[in-house]
Amino acid sequence: MASLVQGIHHITLCPGAAQEDLDFYTQVLGQRLVKQTVLMDGRIPIYHFYWGNGDAEVGSIATSFPYSRRRGRPGSGQVTMTAYAVPYGTAPFWKDHFARHKVEHSEIQERFGAKVVRVRHPAGMLFEVVETRKDLRRPWVTNQINADVATRGFFGAVMSVRTVEEQEQFMVEALGFRKLGIDGDYHRFEAAGRGPGSIIDLHHEPMRAPGSWTFGAGTAHHIAFNVETDDALVAQKALYEELGYTDASDIKDRYYFHSMYVRSPGGILVECTANVPGGFYIDESPDDLGRHLNLPPWYEEKREDILTMLEPIVVPEANRPRPGAARARLPLEPAAMTPAGVPLTRTKAEFILDKP
Ligand SMILES: [Fe+2]
Repeated sequence: MASLVQGIHHITLCPGAAQEDLDFYTQVLGQRLVKQTVLMDGRIPIYHFYWGNGDAEVGSIATSFPYSRRRGRPGSGQVTMTAYAVPYGTAPFWKDHFARHKVEHSEIQERFGAKVVRVRHPAGMLFEVVETRKDLRRPWVTNQINADVATRGFFGAVMSVRTVEEQEQFMVEALGFRKLGIDGDYHRFEAAGRGPGSIIDLHHEPMRAPGSWTFGAGTAHHIAFNVETDDALVAQKALYEELGYTDASDIKDRYYFHSMYVRSPGGILVECTANVPGGFYIDESPDDLGRHLNLPPWYEEKREDILTMLEPIVVPEANRPRPGAARARLPLEPAAMTPAGVPLTRTKAEFILDKP
């Protein structure tokens, strides 16, 4: 059977304070804020920021839950690195850029023959830029990061595992990846789609204690892989169950896409995601992405409550509302079903309205 998974859809991390996160993504990594919305699980309104390349493409999207209420514990069983593709020859620029911003970063290193520079988010999560050739995705540029050096989207991600074998089996049998090779403690896999953002490295760390699974500042929460349709999501869930991964979730309506989650053998939470038609453009035009706080229609009646509980933030100029930039107000429609008649679930907006 052809593989259902095409590559990475998004990677979701928990930073701490919202403004610190916003400044790091936009100024240090040079990402575009493509969507401001809120976390759809739980009873406390938490921002949900989406970051992406110039076209907010699948495979470039990092998302943030600024979760300053609780620290996470970094460890094995987590995505431990989010890797961006940058043009060949730009590693020295990135090392200098990170130094200019006085953020913790590595020297230029090499893995699987490519130059990489690592950088740490102020909340603790690690990122890296990886030199690649011929990545034609449209970058987002800033006043410090021009199109010749800017990130193109994801190169991939690193997962830390205490044992490789069962996670490898999951990657190959359940997600359809193929193994490309080993470099030291790193085992490299590529998604069947073979497009940009399709690389996963398993970092074999047998002695590393397991990290936390909750939302917690300083850790990744999950990684999502792209499938093309709702029917593919249903088929992926059936494949999990056939292989014995019977804790796959129901299929959730995340407004911009539909999602299904499973806990992989190494401990990493893995989501599969099918975009709805229009994706991030269903409520904002391409030029106006990320200019408004967008809520799914079934959260709108709680908008004022939500707004009063979110942290105040200052967004970049490119994300300020502008005259005439109307947001599409979509009608609240009943929860959908997949074409095969499998119901989609929605989380209700039931928030605790008193701040602790
Ligand atoms: Fe997700």
